[in-house]
Amino acid sequence: MLTDTERDIIRATVPILETGGEALTTHFYKLLLSEYPQVRPLFNQAHQAQGTQQRALANGVLQYARHIDRLEALGPLAAQIVSKHVALQIQPDHYPIVGACLLRSIREVLGADVATDAVIDAWAAAYQQLADMLIAAEHEAYDSLAAAPGGWRGARKFRVTRKVPESTEITSLHLEPVDGQSVVDFLPGQYIGVRLMVNGEEIRRNYSLSAAANGRSYRISVKRECGGQASSFLHDDLPEGGTVDLFPPAGAFTLTDTGRPVALISAGVGITPTLPIAEAALVAGRAVTFIHYARNAQVHAFGELLDEWGQRYPQLQTYVVYEHTEASDKRAPDEVGRVTPAQLARWLPIGAEFDTYFVGPKPFMGLIKRALRELGQPAECTRYEFFGPAEALD
Ligand SMILES: Cc1cc2nc3c(=O)[nH]c(=O)nc-3n(C[C@H](O)[C@H](O)[C@H](O)COP(=O)(O)OP(=O)(O)OC[C@H]3O[C@@H](n4cnc5c(N)ncnc54)[C@H](O)[C@@H]3O)c2cc1C
Ligand code: HEM
Repeated sequence: MLTDTERDIIRATVPILETGGEALTTHFYKLLLSEYPQVRPLFNQAHQAQGTQQRALANGVLQYARHIDRLEALGPLAAQIVSKHVALQIQPDHYPIVGACLLRSIREVLGADVATDAVIDAWAAAYQQLADMLIAAEHEAYDSLAAAPGGWRGARKFRVTRKVPESTEITSLHLEPVDGQSVVDFLPGQYIGVRLMVNGEEIRRNYSLSAAANGRSYRISVKRECGGQASSFLHDDLPEGGTVDLFPPAGAFTLTDTGRPVALISAGVGITPTLPIAEAALVAGRAVTFIHYARNAQVHAFGELLDEWGQRYPQLQTYVVYEHTEASDKRAPDEVGRVTPAQLARWLPIGAEFDTYFVGPKPFMGLIKRALRELGQPAECTRYEFFGPAEALD
């Protein structure tokens, strides 16, 4: 437990974190990655370069400092951090390393005048409190994933049994465990961690599970990123029959059991987690509005699957928007252009209570979030996932 003095010091640090948190976390990552090369494979270098990882950590620390008196208010953020950590296999022995770098960064960035011994001691105690909470939650998740039927702990080798092109830039990989045993079920919307060796270097990435749980195999669907390490490897260098290491599924972006109609809004490869969510909702008899945005017909994935579901489930409404069309396109979209609030107003079941799930690039998600708010959709009925470190959408 923190003392009252330590809490006062942490609360007093909030304004500093609000203005200088990112400088602090940028310094922190430099220290961490240069002095502890063993943790480098855990971190995505592109997220570092874009600054998204620094911002996510700065925001995490800031939220924690703000809620130091009511840690339960951290709830959703803590669950999100735990999911990310679990899918990347963060372990208790990583925490002292991060703690040491964070405290050193506070001292070095803020300077001895601000970062007095009392401030450092208060932050050391506060960090330990947060670390203990996360370690305990992660420990529980690892244990329950290992104990569940088909579950496992750490890395498990999977074979690529099939690679299926879904569009010119998205390919699905069907993965079965090399040991021939069953695999743990996941909640629709969850993702797995993939560990790869690329040019002699270990890297870890998350991929949403894009087909419903079946107890025997998983499917991920990967978009080729220009210059992307993992996606290029998965597309070009990992043939059918090849193997990858997977960490068990995690993630808090999952179908809630409210029984209400469901609206799924995705752009590009953001479609992947919405597929198992849609299927689970349809199987449960819920009405589903599926709205998908793609740049054009060539990069539009899973159109035929949605057509098939449309035949099977009368309660499914699908809408597709392309930015551009061409005369040679095999499919015609419902509309051409970019996302507009007017489209959503026409297509969503406004007037009824419904749950919305959306995934896509950050500007797209910002637009959807604003549009939903303007349409009166309550925040508690809205969920979204980032394909990278979580960021503010407002
Ligand atoms: C929860 C979650 C679910 C996800 N689900 C999916 C999914 O279903 N399908 C999917 O395709 N992806 C998914 N992703 C994204 C996925 O994890 C990877 O981030 C994505 O495949 C890109 O990884 P990469 O290694 O190919 O690219 P990276 O090597 O990470 O590079 C990404 C981009 O950054 C650029 N870049 C790399 N390094 C630097 C640098 N140092 N400086 C500047 N620019 C740089 C690259 O050129 C490239 O354009 C998901 C992510 C999360 C967090
Ligand atoms: C109290 C300590 C910690 C806090 C507050 C914290 C906070 C966070 C936050 C806020 C995120 C982003 C979550 C999201 O995107 O949804 C994150 C992701 C991550 N964390 Fe932690 N973390 C802590 C400890 C650690 C440790 C000990 C490690 C391992 C060295 C670690 C490694 C990672 C990695 C690899 C990611 C994913 C980054 C990415 O997507 O690029 N974290 N953490």
